[in-house]
Amino acid sequence: MNAKMAAAHAAVGLVTSGMKIGLGTGTTAYFAIQEIARRIKEEQISLQAIATSSETATLASKLNIPLISFADCCELDLTIDGADEIDERFTLIKGGGGALVREKIVASRSRQMAVIVDESKLCHHIGKHAVPVAVLPFGHESTARKIGSHGKSISIRTRADGKPYITDDGLYVYDLQCDTGLDPLELERAARQIPGVVEIGIFNGLATMAFVGYADGHVEKLLPHW
Ligand code: A5P
Repeated sequence: MNAKMAAAHAAVGLVTSGMKIGLGTGTTAYFAIQEIARRIKEEQISLQAIATSSETATLASKLNIPLISFADCCELDLTIDGADEIDERFTLIKGGGGALVREKIVASRSRQMAVIVDESKLCHHIGKHAVPVAVLPFGHESTARKIGSHGKSISIRTRADGKPYITDDGLYVYDLQCDTGLDPLELERAARQIPGVVEIGIFNGLATMAFVGYADGHVEKLLPHW
């Protein structure tokens, strides 16, 4: 079992019948979704889920995981999602897969958020990974210049054909390169004040636990301030 799969399976151990859960996006969340589907089929647990992206919704539907929307529910019991970086204060960088807007909405409506990562994502201070910022297409070049002044460099995320990558919500994503001296709370606060910015991939105060998978298959469960 690889490290991401091991972390994902450990987190899915928290899922019990009757729960409403948030399904993350990305290669680690993929393993969690597969394992949830297995438990529904083999252990007959019943649950309802909200997906954080159309990619995740498609996978969940294929695997017969019952999906609901926020029209049907206000608060989720648990969200299981990956991260690009996580530090010892449980501040995360997310959005490497472009789903940061929905991921933050879902995480913020969950009583618990279990982050599933391999050991490469752990750090003392986030900032090595670029910080994704989702922006409205209108005026995006000038929005990017404003955001760019808070980091070292900024670039628009593109698809293979060179055109801008577009999120499920019709937004562009810019990747802001900072450094490990980054003040995540200050950056989040500043970005939110720039008209045109919809969301920034800094998640603070949302994760309640983390499952870290290692290459030998063992998993460590961390609580904030590990
Ligand atoms: C998706 O938008 C992201 O927030 C992912 O959760 C994050 O990039 C981690 O992805 P992997 O699990 O694929 O590394």
